[in-house]
Amino acid sequence: MHSFRYIQGRLHCENVDLESLSAKHGTPLYVYSKETITDHYKRLDGALDRLDHLICYAVKANSNLAILQTIADLGGGFDIVSGGELYRVIQAGGRASQCTFAGVGKTRAEIEYALQQGIYSFNAESEAELRQINEVAGSLGKKAPVALRVNPNVDAKTHKYISTGKSENKFGVDFDRILDAYAAIATECEHLEIRGLQMHIGSQLTSIDPFVEAAKKVAPLVEKLKERHHIKFFSIGGGLGIVYRESLDSGDQTWWGEKEEAERPLTIQSYADALVPILEPLKLRILLEPGRFMVGNAGALLSKVLYLKKGNAKKFVIVDAGMNDLIRPALYEGWHQITPLQKAEGAELEKVDVVGPICETGDFLAQDRELPPVQAGDTLAVLSAGAYGFTMASNYNSRPLAAEILVDGSEAHLVRERQTLDDLVRGEHLVQK
Ligand code: LLP
Repeated sequence: MHSFRYIQGRLHCENVDLESLSAKHGTPLYVYSKETITDHYKRLDGALDRLDHLICYAVKANSNLAILQTIADLGGGFDIVSGGELYRVIQAGGRASQCTFAGVGKTRAEIEYALQQGIYSFNAESEAELRQINEVAGSLGKKAPVALRVNPNVDAKTHKYISTGKSENKFGVDFDRILDAYAAIATECEHLEIRGLQMHIGSQLTSIDPFVEAAKKVAPLVEKLKERHHIKFFSIGGGLGIVYRESLDSGDQTWWGEKEEAERPLTIQSYADALVPILEPLKLRILLEPGRFMVGNAGALLSKVLYLKKGNAKKFVIVDAGMNDLIRPALYEGWHQITPLQKAEGAELEKVDVVGPICETGDFLAQDRELPPVQAGDTLAVLSAGAYGFTMASNYNSRPLAAEILVDGSEAHLVRERQTLDDLVRGEHLVQK
């Protein structure tokens, strides 16, 4: 579902006119819809109601406190990947006891912090990491709940930078070595409590098949681990793909996403229909770690057109958001729909590159994109930017980080202030002479 639609020719997020937000808060500006996040959470939750399950939202997708608060209020847990993310969850009112801690490189300090907060499980990715967790737990006089991440060697058929479940990826413990790893923990690590098994094969999967292949391959392993080590949960990770290439031509008062279910290759229902029959007989708690699915379509990045420039080869629309604000096009050739806030009726489209102000050739939001004619001063919305947008933003070129707004019905909440120039140099020191 999308909550971005044209109402009388003006793009809205829920009931809020985006032009009014850009006028009030300036650009670049991230805008999120609470309605979409809530809808996506509830749809996923509902589709899995036959399973004892917990949705652990992958915080890395969008870690704004108000977004985490929204998920916590819905009853969700969290998949974190750093001490910083755990801190955010706690600040937002989330419960550590509903957090899983992923990642190949947890530091000692992070392990200590997570143990003190009482997380649900460390999802460990190597034997060396397990030994470290064991040692830290022992030094704190605690038992650490752990799961191992299995690398099932399944091709997720997604961009190579976001594929994680193949043997050549750095993630997890190889499928054929994992039982030995569990046996080693059980005999050697007295400060660990074996709690589960985890996997995550990649992100932005647009086909069900790799999920099914991985689940079928790993299900017998879950049975063995239940028998031998009494594991309580199996996390099937995240990775649910979203629709980026959706047309906004649905007209006034029409939900943008109405065509979505029919067009998208992967629906929540088809995901659940395929996976629940494999997971239900396992009779243990199922965890999911969706990131993009929860927030991707819920966000847009607003950016103002600064200049138009016609070169010999191309026409450039130069906007005030750059790769520092949204790096997905530069890093993964990510495709985001771009649309003006004022609907251009019947205008002839022209092919342009939408580029940012950063001094890099890779600084583009779209290349060879058919857009209606735009002028300096117009504001554009870069859609489906709610996941891995702001969280991957940087201060490159000393550009302050954008502000963020959470829309709820007719209300727009400023949930992060735009950085100031003072923010840019905070914590830096001149050398005393
Ligand atoms: N669980 C684990 C262990 C993960 O590493 C990830 C994502 C997720 C869950 C959530 O995956 P999702 O449901 O969002 O697909 N920056 C890239 C995506 C990187 C994904 C990293 N791991 C992008 O913008 O496409």
